[in-house]
Amino acid sequence: MEMPTTVAKTNTHIRPVPPEIEPGVGAALNVFIADTYILLAKTQACHWNANGPQFYAMHQLTEMQYAELFAALDDLAERARALRQIAPNGLAAMLQLATLEEADCAIGTEQVARMLATDNMAMAEHARDLADEADEAEDSATHDMLVARIAVHEKAAWLWRSHLA
Ligand SMILES: [Fe+2]
Repeated sequence: MEMPTTVAKTNTHIRPVPPEIEPGVGAALNVFIADTYILLAKTQACHWNANGPQFYAMHQLTEMQYAELFAALDDLAERARALRQIAPNGLAAMLQLATLEEADCAIGTEQVARMLATDNMAMAEHARDLADEADEAEDSATHDMLVARIAVHEKAAWLWRSHLA
């Protein structure tokens, strides 16, 4: 059988991501990654250091949440790489990029619940804004990833609010 002498044309039904759009979504995704990292660090610090009534329930819930955040970070950072970004390159870069602030986590369980409810609601809002931005850029993969994060953070916020009820 004779081999074709010309390279097949690129499939025209696959629309390439416009290169001028990628840096915007990718750079914004890096900020979300940094915020996710800060929330992971805070949630884990609360797992270790919080005190007071409801400690055991809070200890278990924080563990579930930081494990989920850790797994999510890998997917988010690899998406940033697929968008030709350098993912946040170390702890200093995370702190520089993040909009979420670090906090003292050696506090009471009620204060932890209040803080993590607020942080998770802020993350849900952040994910919603970024999902809209990805949608406008016709970046379906980033959009879908961010929509999934809205649900995760809204659920986490509900669990912490319920702790306070
Ligand atoms: Fe633990």
